Amino acid sequence: MSTRYLNFIRSISICPTSRLGVILVVLSFVCLVILELARLLGIITSAFAGLITYMLFPALFVIGLVLIPVGWCRIRKKTGKTTRELIEKRFESDAVKGGFLVSRLARTIALLSVISIVFLAGFSMRMLSFMDQPVFCGTACHSVMNPEWVTYQQSPHSRVACVECHVGEGAVSLIDSKLNGMWQMVSVTFDILERPIPTPVHQLRPARETCEKCHWPEKFYGNRIKRIVHYDTDEASTPKYTTLSLKVDIGDQASQQGIHWHVAEENEVRYSSLDDERESMVWVESKQPDGNIKRYTNRELVDSGSEREDIRQLDCVDCHNRATHIYEMALHAVDKRIQLGQMERSLPFLKREAVGAITANYPTKEAAMDGIANHMHGFYRRNFPDIANNKIAQINSTVAVLQQIHSRNIHSEMNITWDTYPNHIGHANNKGCFRCHNSNLVDQEGESITYDCSYCHSILAYDSDEPFRFLQTADTTSLDYQMHLYLQEEFLNSSKTGH
Ligand code: HEC
Ligand code: HEC
Ligand code: HEC
Ligand code: HEC
Ligand code: HEC
Repeated sequence: MSTRYLNFIRSISICPTSRLGVILVVLSFVCLVILELARLLGIITSAFAGLITYMLFPALFVIGLVLIPVGWCRIRKKTGKTTRELIEKRFESDAVKGGFLVSRLARTIALLSVISIVFLAGFSMRMLSFMDQPVFCGTACHSVMNPEWVTYQQSPHSRVACVECHVGEGAVSLIDSKLNGMWQMVSVTFDILERPIPTPVHQLRPARETCEKCHWPEKFYGNRIKRIVHYDTDEASTPKYTTLSLKVDIGDQASQQGIHWHVAEENEVRYSSLDDERESMVWVESKQPDGNIKRYTNRELVDSGSEREDIRQLDCVDCHNRATHIYEMALHAVDKRIQLGQMERSLPFLKREAVGAITANYPTKEAAMDGIANHMHGFYRRNFPDIANNKIAQINSTVAVLQQIHSRNIHSEMNITWDTYPNHIGHANNKGCFRCHNSNLVDQEGESITYDCSYCHSILAYDSDEPFRFLQTADTTSLDYQMHLYLQEEFLNSSKTGH
């Protein structure tokens, strides 16, 4: 049996071209099987090896298959013999006895063709599903997607595949995304990619197809308490609390309405922006309960006649543009690590120095890692020699945390720094909600979209010593004394249970 196939292989290698074809087919087949086994057994995990397994070797396999008949045609031309004569010469004399179609040779060729087709089809399926895995998207073109990959892994969506958000359902979006991916590979290879990758992603699938598979607007109700801690730049890095009760409700006609009102089934907000970044609105429209459209026009832009036809319906991503690729601001990153107890607040001027260390300008990643360590150790050696000696372990672990903050947020190879990718939730670091909720966007009566401070949240504490104003000692003479005690009690109880 095996000698039959060996003979077959020898016989079809009629000239150097066919021989090369045969070698390519056999070698790529063997390599593919070995690599695939290694992947299945978990010996190889790298995305780059996967790229080779699923793209390079199948390509070589096909090229090999094509080269074999090409060689035969060339020999036929050169020698002037017919295919039948060549077959009789190359194979045993009885190979095509009784007609080619019923011969053993034809059966062998048919069998090998079927095997090749099944084999290639199987690998194409594997390739498609492999390319849908986050580790492929995130690491195949390493330095390019590294920022997105790093932020993704630390996000609430680290178990959601990239394609769940970036590729919609159906064959059209599949083909679309593969073409897009191919273009990306070309642009990476020839280094014509934009660095940083521009945001927003204009061809992102509509949120109705992606986000709403897992979060549907009806799920939002009530308020969400958000406690934000900022540490001062004084010696003790004193904590200051801001507590918001965010009105995340979707609302309905009867009840009070909230932040997710924009995405309720019956509502619709559309806008036209002056820039690709969707930062300056030309006009904003909202559908009224009676079905009429109410338009708010930017009175600063109206006279300049800057109407654009780039109209968009507001969806999840207009607010949650950093749902997954969450870059931190330096101040917040340090605040968060102190709050989590990852850095020792007893180190004097911790907040001030930590922020200084990570926001200095460093030419390379290595320089940044060294610079952060030198900054912190240097500061304590110069100003607090005792602490530099006694708390060396705490300083070292602080340095490690700061280096980690820097690596997560700064990607100089992609020109990404602290404020490259704005976060549109809220309004702390950029306009965010205030892109629309401001005094410039007015309707025909001159009425603006509300920007009242208690429209979106109640402020329970603002930069205060306690996270909730009723946690401060109650004033016994106040009329609110009983109420104060009651709310204090309630807040403490609800914090305990984590609500
Ligand atoms: C939960 C949904 C979600 C997942 C999962 C997700 N992304 Fe994104 N991605 C987004 C959103 C939202 C944006 C910003 C879109 C905008 O503002 O238009 C974005 C933006 C991007 C950008 C453009 C740069 C930027 O930050 O704006 C790239 C590149 C990207 N994602 C790659 C990836 C890769 C690679 C993965 C998997 C490792 C991934 N994404 C997983 C939702 C997601
Ligand atoms: C495949 C399911 C899935 C998809 C698709 C998805 N999410 Fe999520 N999302 C989750 C899960 C799971 C969590 C985590 C819940 C938790 O940690 O309690 C989450 C959490 C969130 C949170 C809360 C984060 C926090 O800090 O509490 C937001 C906001 C969010 N997703 C927005 C989005 C947006 C916007 C999209 C579309 C771009 C999206 N999600 C797509 C499953 C998904
Ligand atoms: C107008 C802006 C806006 C739009 C549009 C929007 N959200 Fe939100 N969403 C918010 C804000 C603000 C919060 C509260 C943020 C926080 O807790 O820090 C929030 C909170 C959430 C949460 C966490 C809720 C919770 O109760 O813990 C999820 C999940 C979420 N949004 C998903 C979505 C999805 C999915 C869509 C699209 C269907 C969407 N959002 C549309 C502004 C928006
Ligand atoms: C693209 C423009 C746009 C953006 C961005 C935007 N909004 Fe709105 N928002 C509107 C419009 C328009 C209305 C409806 C105003 C009206 O006609 O009453 C509205 C209404 C609201 C309402 C009240 C709903 C009701 O009728 O009771 C809340 C609350 C709200 N927005 C919160 C937010 C928050 C929070 C953000 C940022 C995370 C945000 N919005 C971002 C355009 C926007
Ligand atoms: C259109 C809705 C909206 C309006 C109007 C609004 N805010 Fe906010 N604000 C938000 C949202 C949403 C967040 C939460 C962002 C987040 O989840 O981090 C926020 C966060 C904050 C924070 C915490 C920021 C931080 O990180 O420390 C403060 C303080 C604040 N708002 C004050 C105000 C004040 C003062 C006004 C009135 C001038 C106001 N807000 C008006 C939506 C709004």
